[in-house]
Parts: sequence; C-alpha cells; structure tokens
Amino acid sequence: MSKQDEVILSGIRPTGRLHYGNYFGAIQKFIVLQEQGLRCYYFIADYHALTTASERVDYFRYTLDMLRTYVACGLDPSKSIIYRQSDVPCTAELALLLGMVTHVGFLERGTTYKDTVAKLPGGTTRGPEGNPIPYGLLGYPVLMAADILIVRADTVPVGDDQRQHVEMAIDIAEKFNRRFDTVALKIPKPVVRNAVRLPGLDGAAKMGKSDNNDLGLLDDEKIVLKKIKAVQTTTDPTPIEGASDDPDDVIPQMPPSVGALYRLLSLLAPEEVYLDFTRKYRRGEKFYGVLKTTLADYVNAFNAPIIEAFNAPGNNDESIKEFLTENAKKVTPVALETVEACREAIGIGRSLHRA
Ligand code: TRP
Repeated sequence: MSKQDEVILSGIRPTGRLHYGNYFGAIQKFIVLQEQGLRCYYFIADYHALTTASERVDYFRYTLDMLRTYVACGLDPSKSIIYRQSDVPCTAELALLLGMVTHVGFLERGTTYKDTVAKLPGGTTRGPEGNPIPYGLLGYPVLMAADILIVRADTVPVGDDQRQHVEMAIDIAEKFNRRFDTVALKIPKPVVRNAVRLPGLDGAAKMGKSDNNDLGLLDDEKIVLKKIKAVQTTTDPTPIEGASDDPDDVIPQMPPSVGALYRLLSLLAPEEVYLDFTRKYRRGEKFYGVLKTTLADYVNAFNAPIIEAFNAPGNNDESIKEFLTENAKKVTPVALETVEACREAIGIGRSLHRA
C-alpha cells in the first residue's frame, strides 16, 4: 500500500470548547497528517456524547463551535474529510451488526465501563432493575469500532486513554471476519504510543473540560492570566545542591501544578526561555510570578491567531453546515459499501432500497 492510500480516522466528542489538551494531544497531529496528503477522516462523535447524557444538551451548537475552532486551528475541510458522526447514520447499523459478535463479558472489561462501575455507590446491583449503566455506555466500544471500520481506516491517531478502544475495534473486526468467513472488514493497525498528554492546570494527570482544569484555545487574555495566576505555586523551589547551568541537568521533581506550567512553557516558548526557567528552578530562585506572566504571554500569542480565525467572517455556522453536508456525501458511499458487505456476510443480503 502506498502511503497516499493510507486512511486515517479520528474523532473527538463534542464537549463544547477545545483546550490545550485537545490541541497538543490530537489536533496538532491531525494537521500534520492532513498536510502529508493522506486520506484523513476527522469527525465529531456526537452519538458518543450521548452515552453520558442525562438531559438535553445542544450538541449541535457544541459541534458547530468545535468545528469553527478546528478550522481556526488549521484543519481544512478541502483537504480532510471533516464530518459529523450522526450525518452518517449507517454507522449505527454497522454498530448493531458488530454487536452481534461482541460478548457482554468482553465489553465489561473496557476501562471506561469499569471506571463507571467503580464510581457507582451500590455497584451494578443498585437500583430496582440491577445494573443502572446505560446499554449505550457498555456498547461505546462497539460504536467506536463501527466508526473506525466503516471508512476502512488503517491508522487511528488517538491518545493513550483511547488505545484500548482501538484494540477492541481490532478484536471485534477480526472476530466478525472469522465468524462469517469474510474480508468485509479491514483490520486497522494498532495504535502507536506517542500521544502527548497534557496535565491539567491543577496538576491532575490530564487536562479536561469536565475537570475544570483546562486552558482554552479561545480563552482571551484576561481569562488566560486569571487561570494561570490561580495555578497553585505555594511551595517555593528548594535550591539543588551543586546545581549547574547545564541544560541537560535533571530537573528535580516538581509539585504537579508547577510541572503543568513548565510543560506548557516547553510546548510554547523558545527553548532558551524554557531552559532559563529550569535553571532558576534548580537554583531555588523565587520566580513564579514572572513564570506565570511569561507563560500567559506565550499562551496569548498562541491563542490570538486562533481567536482571529475563529471570528473570521467566512468561518461561520453557514459555511460549516455547508462543508458538513458536502463531506457527509463523501463519507456515505464508502460507509454504505462497508455496511452492505457486512449485511451480505452475515446473511441478510443487501438493502433493497438504498443501494
Ligand atoms: N472515544 C473517543 C474519545 O472520547 C472519540 C471517538 C469516538 C473516536 N469514535 C472514535 C476516536 C473513533 C477515534 C476513532 O476521545
């Protein structure tokens, strides 16, 4: 297979606004792959958002805003196929078919499911009907497998937290092909571990909007400064005995929230600036005030062009709806072909009204 035939697919749930964790963990890589001229499918996983819905949320609004941010960051709907999961509803049909070969016990080993169970006060026996977890959440990996398999993806760039889901998709596809003696499903490659995971501003292992520890790509100068100033830096660094100015010297273990500031600085500032602050840290200087304002300046410089492109006149709801419509038309034929092949493999034959 030539590199140009390689199919890339990844999705992001519509959570509202995108943050630095999304950018450095996903979007940046999406753009690199797009610029290599590969066939890239990037979608907003709005069906997946529903697995945690307990009330009506305007996911379409979130979707439009996230796509406006995608475009502002450099994802280009004329180069990548950017679409909305629910605009390709035959994905749900494929998920249904895949569900027929997927054991409940297999899904119960999913970490997302296990984490949800662990948080239930009475475990899965709670409630008059027993296990209160929605069927859709247990089936999350099946739907994700359908997303991946329906466009015959080779490569699925995702963060570590999604690696298990991709492995499950591979297992499900292999099982389907084996059981029905078919090659209807293309087996994707396992995920390579190289994703960047940004810590939250509170020092938590992962930045997340729902954890309220995120720095947004559209945050304005005031908010950026406020969020960065609020980062906990109460313990001053202790000078390291015999510390040298060698940039390769080990940086001592920092409190997690300070580590988060340094991590951002290392991504945004020129190396000299970053190294200067690590030197200060080793020497035990009191410099957190300057570190914070310096970092805020770099964040603002990073956000400024994104905010500008987000507000550009051509980047609006109408233009997004237009490319979503066009791109859904591009994905649908490929998707239907996969679903039809699976229908035939399983024995119900081709759909009589659409193909
Ligand atoms: N589960 C992914 C997340 O929460 C989003 C997603 C849904 C996805 N379907 C996908 C990612 C298919 C990659 C491929 O981040």
